Formats: sequence, structure tokens, C-alpha cells
Amino acid sequence: MTEQSREPSGFFAAERSAEIVAASFAGAEDERLREILTSLVRHAHAFVKDVGLTAEEWAAGIRFLTETGRKCDATRQEFILLSDVLGVSMLVESLNNPADGESTEATVEGPFHLVDSPERELGDAIGEGGEPCLVTGRVTDTSGAPVAGARVDVWQADADGFYDVQRPGEVPGGNLRGLFTADADGRFWFRTVVPRHYPIPTDGPVGALLRATGRHANRAAHIHFQVSGPGIRTLTTHLFADDSPYLDSDAVFGVKASLIRTFARVDDPDRAAEHGLPNPFRHVDFPVTIRRDASV
Ligand code: BEZ
Ligand code: FE
Repeated sequence: MTEQSREPSGFFAAERSAEIVAASFAGAEDERLREILTSLVRHAHAFVKDVGLTAEEWAAGIRFLTETGRKCDATRQEFILLSDVLGVSMLVESLNNPADGESTEATVEGPFHLVDSPERELGDAIGEGGEPCLVTGRVTDTSGAPVAGARVDVWQADADGFYDVQRPGEVPGGNLRGLFTADADGRFWFRTVVPRHYPIPTDGPVGALLRATGRHANRAAHIHFQVSGPGIRTLTTHLFADDSPYLDSDAVFGVKASLIRTFARVDDPDRAAEHGLPNPFRHVDFPVTIRRDASV
């Protein structure tokens, strides 16, 4: 037997195809890589057999993936979008951050956290062009202790449903993004505009897939949060507006009931003046509970 032959697989045979190909990875030094590739091959071969894939269909699939890659550039990540609409992003997120009944639930990061958010002072406005809104919150750990100095990174789409990186000519990272540092009591607050539902980009292969399957492209209205800090697990999540359409049919399956909040209407001239907001304004509170993690 030569070094190249692979027992027990031998020559290719459709009935044992996954076993034969999986055996080719037996020599991989990285055990995890071997495990992942073996499982991938097993599932891919089972899929091909399950649907009786034709050569034309496989070629169409390759063309689709090629187009998906071609659509990617510095501000567009079509592969993340594909993973999102197939629910894979949410599955990975959910398995790696299981709901524990104590900490705030995670959801997808999405493809628009591509640029660093500008560092801002507590109370700053992150952008404009919509209904003025005050967002408040407090970062605590699961024992209820404040996470002083937690970093709270927020980003959202504008009133037309576009992220700044999607606007030709706009400075990426310039609008509706902010990186805040919570105060000694874990509190944060900032001004923004009420988020609106919006469609994910549909001018690429993922949009074609949605159209071909009769699916809409809309995401329920949300603000993205990524909360981090020394000694805490980084949390990537959203705050969803309870009056938004598409909460139960979000295009990327990102909605969790525990993340839905009311953007209350506030008519209070003193409070509006205190925050530099017009009166009336909207207010939403988003307390964030994070697990401490000795390994971070
Ligand atoms: C977003 O919310 O920014 C997003 C998430 C997944 C796909 C497209 C957009
Ligand atoms: Fe978003």
C-alpha cells in the first residue's frame, strides 16, 4: 500500500462516498479541523443524495456562491448575509450564547459593524434624521453589580433604512454609531432617532434567493448593541421596538421576545431640555445584564 492509499476507503463509490472522503482527513494533525471537515463531508454528501442533486443544479449552486463572493467588498459582506437569511448566524449565536434566564440574550451582529464607531460622551447624539429618542440603560453583572466603565457600542440604520456604510459619499462610521463608556454605576444614555424596519440589501445573490423563494427582506426595527469590558463576556445583541412590523418574520430570524421594548412617548419639557431633546420625545430603557467571565 502506498502512502497515498486510504484504508478502508479505497476507490470512490457513491454508496460509501462520505466515508471514503472523510478517511482522507484521517491524517489531519488538528483534531478539531478533522472533526469539522468529516462532519461537513458527511452532511454535504447526505444532502446531495437526499435531493438527488443534478450536475446542472450543482453548477447553479457553484455559480450562486461565486456571485456571492464577487458581491463582497470592504463595505459589503454577502456571505454573512447568506448565513443570516439561512438562519445559520442565529444558530451559531444561540448555541454559543444559550439563554440562561439571567443575562441579556444575544442576537446576530449583522454585516454592518464594519467600521469603528466614533468614541462619544454619555448623552451625545449619535445621528439624526428621524423621530428624536433617548436611550438609557445600565450594565450589570448577573449578581446585579454595576459594570463600571463597560464599553457600549451602538449602531443603527437611518430613517430610510440605510447604514452609513451603504451611503455613497458618506464618511463610514459617521452617522448613527457611537462607542460609549458607562459611568461608575454602569449607566449609559444617548440620543438617537427611533429605529424603523428596513430591508436587508437585495441587489445581490441573497436578494435573488429571497425573491425566488417568496420571502420578504425586512428586518424588524432595532438598534444594535455590543457591550464589552474587562472581566465580562462580550454581548452582541439588539433592542427591538415593540410597535415594529416583522417582529415575527424577521428576515434573519434575529428577534428574541426578551429583547423587545416599548419606545414610550414622553411629554416632559424639563426632561427634554435636560437631555437637549425637543419635546415631546420617545424614550426606551435597555438594561443589560452580562455574565462575568474569568477567562476574558
Ligand atoms: C443588520 O441588522 O444590520 C443586519 C443583520 C443581518 C443581515 C443584514 C442586516
Ligand atoms: Fe441592523
